[in-house]
Amino acid sequence: MKRHFLLVLLTFVGICVEAQNVSVSKARFQKGDDLSWAKPETNDAAWGEIDMTKNWDDQGYAINNAYGWYRVHLNIPSSLLKGAKQEKFVIFDLPKADDTDECYLNGKLIGKTGGMPGDAGGYKSAWSVPRSYPVDIKTGGIRWDQDNVIAIRVYNAGEPGGLFERPLSIRVPSALDGLKMNFTDVNDGNAHCNIELNNVYPVVQNGKLDVSIIDRESGAVLSKLSKKMSIKQNKPVRLTVPYDKKKVCVLTTQYTDSKTGKTITKRLPLKYILTPAAPATPRFNAAPLFGVRPGSPVIYRFPVSGERPMKFTCADLPAGLNLKEADGVLSGKIDRPGDYTFTVVAENAKGKASQKFTLKVGDRMIALTPPMGWNSWNCWALSVSQEKVMSSAQALLDKGLADYGYCYMNIDDGWEAEKRNPDGTIAVNNKFPSMKALGDWLHERGLKFGIYSSPGDYTCGGYLGSIDHELQDAESYNSWGIDYLKYDWCGYGREHAKEKDKGVASYVRPYLLMQKFLREQPRDIFYSLCQYGMANVWEWGRFVDANSWRTTGDITDTWRSMYDIGFRRQAGLAEYAAPGHWNDPDMLIVGKVGWSSNLRDSRLTPDEQYTHITLWTLLASNMLIGCDIAQMDDFTIGLLCNHEVNLINQDILGKQADRVAKDGDIEVWARPLADGSQAFGIFNVGEEDKQVDIKKYISPNFKFRDLWRQKDLSADELICTIPTHGCKYLKVTK
Ligand code: GLA
Repeated sequence: MKRHFLLVLLTFVGICVEAQNVSVSKARFQKGDDLSWAKPETNDAAWGEIDMTKNWDDQGYAINNAYGWYRVHLNIPSSLLKGAKQEKFVIFDLPKADDTDECYLNGKLIGKTGGMPGDAGGYKSAWSVPRSYPVDIKTGGIRWDQDNVIAIRVYNAGEPGGLFERPLSIRVPSALDGLKMNFTDVNDGNAHCNIELNNVYPVVQNGKLDVSIIDRESGAVLSKLSKKMSIKQNKPVRLTVPYDKKKVCVLTTQYTDSKTGKTITKRLPLKYILTPAAPATPRFNAAPLFGVRPGSPVIYRFPVSGERPMKFTCADLPAGLNLKEADGVLSGKIDRPGDYTFTVVAENAKGKASQKFTLKVGDRMIALTPPMGWNSWNCWALSVSQEKVMSSAQALLDKGLADYGYCYMNIDDGWEAEKRNPDGTIAVNNKFPSMKALGDWLHERGLKFGIYSSPGDYTCGGYLGSIDHELQDAESYNSWGIDYLKYDWCGYGREHAKEKDKGVASYVRPYLLMQKFLREQPRDIFYSLCQYGMANVWEWGRFVDANSWRTTGDITDTWRSMYDIGFRRQAGLAEYAAPGHWNDPDMLIVGKVGWSSNLRDSRLTPDEQYTHITLWTLLASNMLIGCDIAQMDDFTIGLLCNHEVNLINQDILGKQADRVAKDGDIEVWARPLADGSQAFGIFNVGEEDKQVDIKKYISPNFKFRDLWRQKDLSADELICTIPTHGCKYLKVTK
């Protein structure tokens, strides 16, 4: 009866005591900030009540750019330690804190996550980070079997704010719980994986690490090592394991705690390069066709791989054009509409190659194949600067990506000044010393220049939009040499809200307005609509002469996002794509991304990255690299610079792939190609590796080419294993 009563009482105050765990969700709460509130003797009787598992906004407190304090009174029973394997420390698991926290136990700071505005390093959000603070059983200040006060100071920068997601709990961990294993896979010159083991608990962790590298295709163990280690708190132990960058391998690690024999195992599929190295002799890697409007400047760099120096010549170059011999940059203009055919020869010390090109001159000749290039958003977001754009452009040239057709260098949001010039023209902020100079610098190298704006008052990033200044902005873009405009709905939502009739016309209007002014400019400006697919933009995008339209919201570097956008949301859209007008499933998420000045490796696994590029090339998507090219590794270069793969994207028939079969976790997407063959992507979207018989989906009477490996397949290779989230990319010819 008594026990029952205790349980009822504890449930009432939101406390739950289990064998080795005490948890509490209710706390006292006060807006504001006073460090003396950390002291146990502070009188909080008049404070409000709050649930720590829900943001404070949901509980009537809208506190932004300010602090709030939580206080919990808790009897911590010594029975918590009964039967524990170690009796040195307990863990205080905190709810997540939106954005930063400091946690005090009986007045003593026991842990903090993120940076408070007054800190030396400044404010740093850590809203999605779980917090676990170890506290020494004897010296950490716990008053066993008595009242303890846990005070949590939380700072929030933007709504929502406060503690959320889980209760505060105290538990006795096993020593091994504090072991964190991190991997950095570097597929560059000498491919290697860095393994870091850190121990966040205040006891020395003794154990052994076994590492092996296994060939995923044959199962063979390629290398092995075993190391004893003793890891002190926050003194990480690191080791480097080399691997063969062309083999499809997995790294497995097993750590064994020497005291208990308990183990932690991890498995990391390593990056692998399938694309064969390009020959030293010249090789043309481009579609044999491009277009320009009559009288617009021609800016084109012939994409040819092979050893430099290289010499470019053309005996039948159309009048009005000029070809730079040293780098294959074509310039000039042609006034008369028509098809102009000519042959370009590229020659170096190792050999010679030539390709016939058709330049189509006509009113709607922008983007006859999908645009290839770079955009600043997925890496730098609002921290973009002229310097960063130039650094990626230089790397695009130096690392050879321009030799595969990547040419647009697009600045996304974050270049605009706070106010327009007195005459109403748009001004740039001080991260961009000169747009005109940047444009000239890019054009000289045969690269193209892109920019971003919104039809609304403000962009998504809170910068100035083009509303009421559309003509002026189009003219500014022309004067800077802009070749691509991404026009992002965002702030226009406020205008749209005023519309009585929210039919399709209300979505078309702002885009049609800018289209008119863009097309009046004496240069070709690729027109990219970004409004996330509203009002079925794919049905009317080409009628506002858009060259592409985003079909969904923003992509991020997770399987879930890529799967949702690439597979689920693109099915059925193929009929809307055609030369000059493309569906845009958003920018690429390979390489170092981060949407900030802090970049990290894409969180997609290597197999997922192959799937990403396979699907995007099949979808005839814009191929805009979203990472810092200066930091691009060999693996990412291999993904982006496979000419057979890219030529599917650039196929001049301009037909987008659609899903032709869905067989459990296997999806088959196919697109017809100009030469009468077809490209097939066979994807395993499930969570397990799968044995697949390709003959089930495609007649075996055809010739099969593996596009990633650039090699023909034999009949028995048509039965293969496709790893989880991986794919096979095939060109199938009669
Ligand atoms: C939106 C777009 C992104 C990017 C940002 C810039 O979210 O969809 O691609 O341009 O705005 O603020």
